[in-house]
Amino acid sequence: MDKFVIRGGNKLKGSVIISGAKNGVLAIMPATMLAPGTYTLENVPNLRDVWTMSQLFFDLGIHCELTNNQMFIDTTNIKSYEAPYEHVKKMRASFYVLGPLVGRFGRAKVSLPGGCAWGPRPVDLHLKGLEKLGTEISIEGGYVIAKANKLIGTQIHLDVPSVGATGNIMMAAVLAKGTTIISNAAIEPEITALAKFLVKMGAKIYGIGTNLLEIEGVDELHPTNEVIIPDRIEAGTFLIAGAITESKITIENCNPYHLTAIIAKLEEAGCELEVYNDKIQITAEEPPKPVDVTTAVYPGFPTDMQSQWVAYMLKSNGVARITETIYPDRFKHVPELQRMGAQIEMSDNTAIVYGGKKLSGAIVMGSDLRGSAALLLGALIADGESEILRVYHIDRGYETIDKKLKQLGADIERVQTDFY
Ligand code: UD1
Repeated sequence: MDKFVIRGGNKLKGSVIISGAKNGVLAIMPATMLAPGTYTLENVPNLRDVWTMSQLFFDLGIHCELTNNQMFIDTTNIKSYEAPYEHVKKMRASFYVLGPLVGRFGRAKVSLPGGCAWGPRPVDLHLKGLEKLGTEISIEGGYVIAKANKLIGTQIHLDVPSVGATGNIMMAAVLAKGTTIISNAAIEPEITALAKFLVKMGAKIYGIGTNLLEIEGVDELHPTNEVIIPDRIEAGTFLIAGAITESKITIENCNPYHLTAIIAKLEEAGCELEVYNDKIQITAEEPPKPVDVTTAVYPGFPTDMQSQWVAYMLKSNGVARITETIYPDRFKHVPELQRMGAQIEMSDNTAIVYGGKKLSGAIVMGSDLRGSAALLLGALIADGESEILRVYHIDRGYETIDKKLKQLGADIERVQTDFY
């Protein structure tokens, strides 16, 4: 098990290259199950979550190889329709194989994901949507057992615009008979990228990028290749790393169009941002103004950036309120930041951050991916040395974050430890 040892106080400078989107590749990999054959995906981040999906693929009989951020996939010989608990418990995105398995083979057995570190995360909308398409669903021994003959297009309204439910239903509907409408669909960039990939495979999807998707079923799809979009959450995290350390850095290979809410909030906090086609330069010369945020579905402020914003506001000279509307319990980072001296009060789903108090280095423990990133940001500005334990959480979603931060001038080491 690894930990990070960080000595805070360094300013950052230079450029950092943003990797491909974790949530992008985790949606596109399952889509390759919809047509037998070979695929090449470029700009694939080398992440623990991608390894987990690759292991699940291996169990299903799918050959999958990742070399230098290029992934080769061969879905010719799928031999199993089961996603076991051991994979789904590690990563909820494993649930994404349900839609393609039902769509192409009319059968699947996929473990229910259960809760996660920050509370319940239901999958009722995924199941309701698949049922409406004609899938017979039962829950047995913690597994979803899905059976269907030919799926039939229908109208599906999502109570909330769930990313995962939109992706799963869309992947099932592309091979259904007739037309499926998904209303109140998610419009996150990773869902738009998935829809575009499916169209490249021969699917007929209209309204891409809007919350009303019309999917005209086709008889078959064909393999294709794709370049994974840049990771907007990694980009946002590095922008905050620049801002919190009052530095000037450039984020390269990103898509600023996917980052509008974060850019707007950083500007409100007093940062200067120069935005180009695929890069952003951020300059921060003083502590931020306190800026409230409320998380929302895209293009609102992402829940996946909430914990990093909490850390950033610790540097402000004032009080900021950060409200979480997507996952109201997603505040596991708060008690750990408090151990570094942070003054944060919780009021229901709002963190009230009293900024301006110097943080001091401490041993802290990550318990989820983005929360761990917030601890790392806190450590960058803390006095003295911090240790962040359980960095496997960070490794799930940030490709070599320690190397990237070091290259920008941070004092950070990855160290093996028995203590966790
Ligand atoms: C995806 C992202 C995750 C991000 C989240 C919200 C991936 C692999 N993960 O997760 O990083 O934090 O979007 O942007 O892309 N809900 C239901 N019933 C359902 C499904 C969801 O009530 O069947 C609710 C959830 O409790 C939550 C909201 O819908 O309040 C959004 O969840 P959803 O968009 O489904 O998140 P994920 O797809 O799991």
